[in-house]
Amino acid sequence: MENKRASWSGQLAFVLAAAASAIGLGNLWRFPYLAAQYGGGIFIAIYLFLVVTLGFTLMTTEIAIGRMTKQSQLTAFSQMHTGWSFIGFLGTVIPVLIVPYYCVIGGWVLKYLVAYAKMALTGAELMGDGASASGEFFGAFISAPFAPFGYGILFILACAFVIVLGVKNGIEKSNLVMMPILFIMAIAISIYVTTLPDSLAGIKYYLIPNISSLRGESGAFSIAMLGKTVLGAMGQMFYSLSLAMGIMITYGSYMRQSDSIEKSVRRIEVFDTLIAIVAGLMIIPVVHMFAIKTGTPVKEAMNAGPGLMFITLPKVFAMLGRGGVWLGFAFFLLVTFAAATSAISLYEACVASVCDLLGMKRRNATFFMFFVIAFLAVFSALGYGPWQNVTLSALLAKLGITGEWASKSIFAMQGLDFFDFITNSILMPIVALCTCIFIGWVVKPDVVVEEISREGHAFRARGFYVFMVKWIAPLLIIAILVSEVCRNLGIANWKI
Ligand code: PHE
Repeated sequence: MENKRASWSGQLAFVLAAAASAIGLGNLWRFPYLAAQYGGGIFIAIYLFLVVTLGFTLMTTEIAIGRMTKQSQLTAFSQMHTGWSFIGFLGTVIPVLIVPYYCVIGGWVLKYLVAYAKMALTGAELMGDGASASGEFFGAFISAPFAPFGYGILFILACAFVIVLGVKNGIEKSNLVMMPILFIMAIAISIYVTTLPDSLAGIKYYLIPNISSLRGESGAFSIAMLGKTVLGAMGQMFYSLSLAMGIMITYGSYMRQSDSIEKSVRRIEVFDTLIAIVAGLMIIPVVHMFAIKTGTPVKEAMNAGPGLMFITLPKVFAMLGRGGVWLGFAFFLLVTFAAATSAISLYEACVASVCDLLGMKRRNATFFMFFVIAFLAVFSALGYGPWQNVTLSALLAKLGITGEWASKSIFAMQGLDFFDFITNSILMPIVALCTCIFIGWVVKPDVVVEEISREGHAFRARGFYVFMVKWIAPLLIIAILVSEVCRNLGIANWKI
């Protein structure tokens, strides 16, 4: 059975697949926004530092666990230690909850891609010629009863198609097409943006460290602000490197023993960070220009959430006239590919878990997961429209339970935000923490060290790794967990 497990065709295929998973909406949309909020270069420097320390430790651990056990996350932990199989179960819930909403957002991106294609080909002005039209377009779309679900399903189907074809023929080959296009387009768009008049101010705003972002209200240097910046960068790093979702364990389980895990992790980090930084070069200068032209404060224009990608950017594209339509098309094609390769990795993590646990065939497992994902996607897809009021607090109110706490943020979230919160803020830190404790203190880091050093590969960062996984990583992850809970429950006035 074991020697029938699929495998990548080589180290490069593995690196490309892991990078394809890592590079996604987080790089294109969340990184630029966070950098703009947290002092540009300062945020970037802190982020880089965290990637090569904490990110390196966690990614190495996950890949080693996968390759060592030849299992996906659900069964990998139980194979290593029966008493710790709960990590696998808890961890598998994460991709199952994330894929549906990730695919719903993928559906939004697809909708925009189609709209820009239509505008480019027919000259129609679906999003108006600027002004507020793009806001209306977006609002009308996400609150529609069927369209968001329909586009989401289309997106899931495309991912399912790739997964059914298997590791080598599906995932690997599709990456070979999508990833080079993504890279070329990201570089081309950022070069184009850099040549636009007035782009320099935005580039400076993005790259030059802005020390004043670390000052508190009194104007003095604030430890709290520094803490927030570090925590923001850490959360982003988790998400961006696709950590604590079982993806790296699953992808690691298809890795050949002759390939170097340490070198692969370094390369994945470089790709992922590069695209995040380039994404900022595509987005921040144009939004900066837009802010100056319309008199909006820059921080406000770089708003969090979907507004930046789906409302502000289209407005900026509209300001650029006909060229803007093509720019919009290229941009959304890039985003579609980035989102698709990430969604595929999440979907694969679910499918591999089902296959490993039940011994199901890949095709059947993909089919089965399709229904689970499609069912859960309904909540996210309709959450901004007809099911806006389907929230936990509404449910509690029906049961006669009301009160200020019941109407507080997490209980009042609709589908998409709720799944996002439960996974990113709660489950992922818990799973990452348990993984570090398990490796650092239960089975001991030597198990990972041995896996990394197989077939004569020197583990250069060995001492550093052991220290990180035992001490520093758990402490940092606890800090994220506490801050996320405080933030979402509105404790201690914590806002990011
Ligand atoms: N790493 C991806 C990104 O940056 C996000 C992702 C989340 C990928 C969940 C897979 C799973 O967007």
